[in-house]
Amino acid sequence: MPSLEDELFPSTPGKFKIDRGHNINRQFHRCFASTSTMFIWALFLIALTASYLSFQSFVDSGNRYFTASWGGIQWEKQIRNSAKTNRPGGMSVLVTGAAGFIGSHVSLALKKRGDGVVGLDNFNNYYDPSLKKARQSLLHSQAILVVEGDLNDVKLMAKLFDLVAFTQVMHLAAQAGVRYAMENPSSYVHSNIAGLVTLLETCKSANPQPAIVWASSSSVYGLNDKVPFSELDRTDQPASLYAATKKAGEEITHTYNHIYGLAITGLRFFTVYGPWGRPDMAYFSFTRNILQGKTITIYRGKNKADLARDFTYIDDIVKGCLGSLDTSGRSTGSGGKKRGPAPYRNFNLGNTTPVKVPTLVNILEKHLRVKAKRKIMEMPGNGDVPYTHANISLARREFGYKPTTDLQTGLKKFVRWYLSYYGYNRKDVW
Ligand SMILES: NC(=O)c1ccc[n+]([C@@H]2O[C@H](COP(=O)([O-])OP(=O)(O)OC[C@H]3O[C@@H](n4cnc5c(N)ncnc54)[C@H](O)[C@@H]3O)[C@@H](O)[C@H]2O)c1
Repeated sequence: MPSLEDELFPSTPGKFKIDRGHNINRQFHRCFASTSTMFIWALFLIALTASYLSFQSFVDSGNRYFTASWGGIQWEKQIRNSAKTNRPGGMSVLVTGAAGFIGSHVSLALKKRGDGVVGLDNFNNYYDPSLKKARQSLLHSQAILVVEGDLNDVKLMAKLFDLVAFTQVMHLAAQAGVRYAMENPSSYVHSNIAGLVTLLETCKSANPQPAIVWASSSSVYGLNDKVPFSELDRTDQPASLYAATKKAGEEITHTYNHIYGLAITGLRFFTVYGPWGRPDMAYFSFTRNILQGKTITIYRGKNKADLARDFTYIDDIVKGCLGSLDTSGRSTGSGGKKRGPAPYRNFNLGNTTPVKVPTLVNILEKHLRVKAKRKIMEMPGNGDVPYTHANISLARREFGYKPTTDLQTGLKKFVRWYLSYYGYNRKDVW
């Protein structure tokens, strides 16, 4: 194998032959020539390494949230199969956040009635990813593929729309949680702002353009104290960064409706609970702590007023999602005035019966048959609001939304699921 020196100074006869036994001058000249060439090569190598490293770090930072676990003929076939409809006039829906709490329920309900579903989720570790994986397996058992990938992966998003002419997008992927925004604000910007824009850009360019139904939140009402909350009320006083990103999402989606004619429906969910729920939510962590004999902290608002929430059972939310998808209308495309303006709408999806948090704990105690150890504290300024209450008349009028599950019934179903999922023997608890 030739050495580097041999490569730089070839010894092929007739080209350049080094005579090792010659005088000092020649040696000096050779040495000088060799050093300067080496120097240039060294510079070249350093520059090459530096540009490689900076490219690598660019790719790494861009791909921090992405996985390369997609692609290939087999994968494409699975996507197409998953998106196939099984009823006349069925929809092909891309469900983002499909391994999440609401996304998994909506995906199953769509598939059950014969719609095609492709899921997308980045399986981040905001809460235990094994719960997301378990939901993915459940969906898989019903022939629903959940692609592991990030909303911000432009290539992946474009690929999905290349493979399937989605009629609707149910956009549920987001960084949820009010308090976590104080710990990791950039995750909210990443998913709820940048990810939303990437999704809208993809939908804008898709042909046909899908109608979009997406999850806003009751948190947009922020410091609004007029109850019940109506879609006509103020939403310009968010109490948390989470709420601010959801409000920004409403403004951003409005822009895409206005400029590009995308049909957009925003759903303002009110404290959704139920089986396969989110471990960061109070009803879930209370259950865990009560069963483990740990003290639970119950916050109070100003003047020792109990906090209250319009808790809404997952099955009611799913009906609201399907109703809004069914009436979501068609996008008109940019400048598409022929079919009239594409709809832009926001709806409250709540239960209309706020329940105080101590009452929620009483119900859990009853279903679990364990007494909770309670600690009452004043609510810290962490973005929570004292009270939520939905006026749902708009959703009722538009797509017949009518919640039917009260908190007693809904929590009973949640507790049954919780005990079974986490392997509690009922006799251990009761
Ligand atoms: N659960 C509620 O009470 C409630 C209330 C109001 C609004 N919402 C909204 O409803 C939607 C669904 O909420 P949920 O309770 O099912 O939450 P969830 O956290 O269980 O589901 C969201 C899913 O999105 C995924 N995700 C997050 N960022 C992503 C990204 N950049 N790319 C791909 N996937 C990503 C997560 O991994 C997660 O599985 C969210 O938009 C949430 O803000 C929920």
